[in-house]
Amino acid sequence: PFLHIPGTPLDPIMALFEAYNHDSRPEKLNLVVGVYTDENGSIPILDSVRSAEQEWFAQGKPKNYRPIEGTPGFRRSVQDLLFGEDSEVITDQRAATLQSVGGTGGLKIGADLLKKVLPDAVVAVSDPSWENHRALFEAAGFKVVSYPYHDPQSHGVRFDSMCAFLRTLPAGSIVVLHACCHNPTGSDLSPDQWRMLVDLTGENDLFPFIDIAYQGFGRGLAEDALAVRLFAQAHRDFLIASSFSKSFSLYGERIGAATIVCGDPAVVSRVEGLAKRLVRTNYSNPPTHGAAIVETVLRTPSLRSLWESELGHMRTRIRRMREQLADALDRNDLGGSFQFIKAQNGMFSYSGLSAEHAKTLRDDFGIYVLDTGRICVAALNDGNLDRVVRAITHVVKR
Ligand code: LMR
Repeated sequence: PFLHIPGTPLDPIMALFEAYNHDSRPEKLNLVVGVYTDENGSIPILDSVRSAEQEWFAQGKPKNYRPIEGTPGFRRSVQDLLFGEDSEVITDQRAATLQSVGGTGGLKIGADLLKKVLPDAVVAVSDPSWENHRALFEAAGFKVVSYPYHDPQSHGVRFDSMCAFLRTLPAGSIVVLHACCHNPTGSDLSPDQWRMLVDLTGENDLFPFIDIAYQGFGRGLAEDALAVRLFAQAHRDFLIASSFSKSFSLYGERIGAATIVCGDPAVVSRVEGLAKRLVRTNYSNPPTHGAAIVETVLRTPSLRSLWESELGHMRTRIRRMREQLADALDRNDLGGSFQFIKAQNGMFSYSGLSAEHAKTLRDDFGIYVLDTGRICVAALNDGNLDRVVRAITHVVKR
């Protein structure tokens, strides 16, 4: 049967990541994949994570199977971060959280669950969105459309067009929203725009599916969760996929969560039962290590505050790199201001560079950015910034 399989391309992020890995030039630089690297260009192991790991190993616990949904402590920690510790969603037990295989796994649990309850729904993702959103929802059997989002002129969000488009969707459609640090553009909605969106989706009976992969990388843990908390206050059904890849620098541990929020607490256990069944028939139950680290850090006050300060350090450093990149590019007079980079949030910047620019950066300088112009600002540091600025200046002025 395999003879008939046509060639299947990788998505652009992973395709370029592979090309980068195979590039033998020592000066190569990966600004493609959303990974934070520190001042020295290394992926940090956070001190809070290291301590939690040591504690965990010292306990020498047997490696039993985990509950399908993850441990109670992990699930509670996820909800505390998303909703705030005293939130009414938690006290009313209106949400079910399942440990997932990274944020992508959370999206997949959610997509499979929605396919059971809204089988004919259209899924709307932002234009542009994370490369894998469309593919993931199509793979789950949905028709996927795009709603207007990025405005190349203003480098901001086309909020009016976005709302106008969402109003045309049939009732029961699913809208995928980036809570913060929009991937790939870095342009987020304002608190007022989120409030309007809560109303709009309610009035038009649209189902929100919030992807929050960068909590803490934008403005702060609570600030970045505003969208989640506003939807939660509206007492509606919605879904959240969250990730600890970036905020804990635990990429390869694949640790995230799917959280299903219900307007009515009476349905939570049935929804959770269905989600557990989906997990059981997919990968049975989730892995231990990443979840144990996250749970230990979040449930040990000293480690929790250490983690918050480490997260704050990563956030501040990214912001400083944004400022230096924007100012350095502007000093080189490239025919337009790059100050918009400062207004963007999180790891990524939609830089305005073209596919041709990206190709020359790759071919001539070994600097990998996506063809869409998305740059991972979180991989810049004082040691490589000048080189990146010189290379961008060269390709733009060519
Ligand atoms: C990215 O967008 O680069 C990250 O989310 C990594 C990935 O899985 O694509």
